[in-house]
Parts: sequence; structure tokens; C-alpha cells
Amino acid sequence: MIKVGFVGWRGMVGSVLLERMLEEKDFSGYEAYFFSTSQVGSEGPDVGMGSSPLKDAYAISALAEMDVIVTCQGGSYTKKVYTELRFSGWNGYWVDAASALRMDKDSVIVLDPVNSDVIDGALNKGVKAYIGGNCTVSLMLMALAGLFKENCIEWLTSMTYQASSGAGANNMRELVNQMKIIGLSAEELLNNPASAILDVDRKVTACLRDPGFPADNFGVPLAASLIPWIDSPMENGQTREEWKGVVETNKILGRENNPIPVDGQCVRIGAMRCHSQAFTIKLTRDIPLNEVEAMIGGANEWVKVVPNNKEETLKELTPAKISGDLTIAVGRIRKMNIGGQYLTAFSVGDQLLWGAAEPIRRMLNILIKHCA
Ligand code: HSE
Repeated sequence: MIKVGFVGWRGMVGSVLLERMLEEKDFSGYEAYFFSTSQVGSEGPDVGMGSSPLKDAYAISALAEMDVIVTCQGGSYTKKVYTELRFSGWNGYWVDAASALRMDKDSVIVLDPVNSDVIDGALNKGVKAYIGGNCTVSLMLMALAGLFKENCIEWLTSMTYQASSGAGANNMRELVNQMKIIGLSAEELLNNPASAILDVDRKVTACLRDPGFPADNFGVPLAASLIPWIDSPMENGQTREEWKGVVETNKILGRENNPIPVDGQCVRIGAMRCHSQAFTIKLTRDIPLNEVEAMIGGANEWVKVVPNNKEETLKELTPAKISGDLTIAVGRIRKMNIGGQYLTAFSVGDQLLWGAAEPIRRMLNILIKHCA
């Protein structure tokens, strides 16, 4: 029976992955082994196959016994063990949520509702590394898959509104804590309906600027503010998150030799786990709006077109609504007043589901079938 090893299953993305696998009753048809970087020997989780002691995630010989390794442990772990593991002669499948191997020429970025042809081609060629994409890119491709499939996009910009979860678990906690501190700072004035709003504002601003305001993770306040910078700088003035937009999109689509231009500004906002994006799309031709909506909505079973009216937008197209859900909501779809080839749309998707765990979960299932 195929042996699958899981590393980093206790972190945020790993926990979502395990939850989803249990929900979908994925743990069958193979032997699951759980690895740890810190608690080797402790009892592992029981996913319906009985539990066994945790294996050492740094022991190359233990890893090498696996046919498939699924890791959500992060890029530093990948960098630490991957090359050595391959060097030891291991020829198994490596499925990774981290970005470390994404742009490697021997890896494929997985998002099977969008690029199952690329994945199938790679499996047939013997590619052994399957890597989850950047969350913003995966969510954009899920939302606009219908337009990409029909070759309707000449170029696009994505202006993002990215959730705290993309920065990590500690950042999510910090955001909620910031919200609490801000609320407490203005509590007295809020409790008095006769208080002046500008006094409330002065209190909040003073609180945000207080040197003691909790911002160890984000560096600055995110609550009641935003941060127009995600990840490290690139030489061309983009951030790395913005750069990923073009390189990963085209790698996922298998269009490295004929890339679609993608660019935009990536902004962190105070949502919990849903990334939102506002698109400007130059279509390859002037396509009627109803056809555009049909293409977007018909691309996969998760994308849901939200009619461009206030009531449904407020009800269906917000992080508060989409959080924890596999739905990719796409709304505010309309032609821009600069010309019939210019389309705008807004999407919301859960960063931990389609943005991280779901493509990995589905890739493992594809591999299990492929190896059977
Ligand atoms: N880099 C993303 C973010 C998350 O910071 O929101 C992971 O793809």
C-alpha cells in the first residue's frame, strides 16, 4: 500500500488541510504517517486508521520510506530537507504548500480545476514535485478561470485586499488584539451616545500611534488602517507578492513562453481569512456582458457570480460571508466606461481553503489515483 507522510499538519494551513481531508473522508486507500519537527515519538493523530508515534521530520531515512510526502511546514523546512532527500536517491512525490520550490523548473504549481491538463502532462512525464500556488494567484485563477480558458484576457491588473491569515497565525491574533485595544480606548465615548465623533476619532488615532500599541508582527497598526506592502522588495519596485502574480499565473497556465501580463498592488487589510481582489481586465475583444458572466460562472463548480446590485453584493460578496467556505464569489462585473474591451470585477475567496489547503488536498487525491 502507498505510504503518505504528512509534515506540518498542526500549523494553520496543515490544520485546515486535515479538517478538509476528514470532512471528505480522504484517509483511505493508503497508509498515513505523521511527522513532527518538535515532538518526535509523541502519539500522532488518529484519522481513522489508529494512531502511531510521530516520526522525525528531519530524518531523511524515515522520509525516504514514504511514496508521497505532503508538507505544510513552510519554506525553511523544504529548503532544509528537500535537496538532501532527493540526493539520498528518494524518488517519491513531494506535495508542498510553501513557495520554496514553486518556480523550480522541475516542479508544477497545482490548481487542478484550472490546470489539470498541466498536472496530467507532468505526471505522465514523471514530474515528482507538486506545489501549491500563492493564495492570491490561485484565488484569482479560480475566479477568472472561464475567461482564461476561452483566451479572452489580453492583460489584467489585480488590486488586492489581503487578509491577515496570509501573514500567519500570529498576525491574525495580533489583528484581533489590535481591534480589542482600539475598542477599549474609545469605550467610554462609545457608551455615551452624546459624545462627539471627532473625539472618538482622536482617541482611536492616539491609540494607533501609541508606542505601546501591539504591532510586533505587522510592524504597524492594521486594524483601523491598512498596509500597502506584502512580502519583500523586488528590484523593479514591485513587492514579491506582486511579482508572483505574473510568474505564477503563467506557470500554472503553462504559458511561460507566451505570458499574459498581470500586475497590480497588493494590500493587507483587516479581514481574517478571505482575500479580495478588484480586477481591471483588457479583453481580447468586446464580449457582451451576459457572455462574460456565463463564462465566469460556468468555469467550475465553486465560482459563483453575484449580480451587480447593492443588496446581493452586501449579502454575498464580502469576507464575512465567504470565510470558511469553498465558494469563490465574483461580482461587481461590468464594462468600464473607458471602452467595451475593458471589464472590471471583484472577487472574494477563502485564503486558507482554495488559497492554500484545497489544491494540496486535491493533488494528493490525484496522486493516489495515479499511483493505484
Ligand atoms: N503571501 C500571501 C499573503 C499568503 O501574504 O497573503 C500566501 O500565499
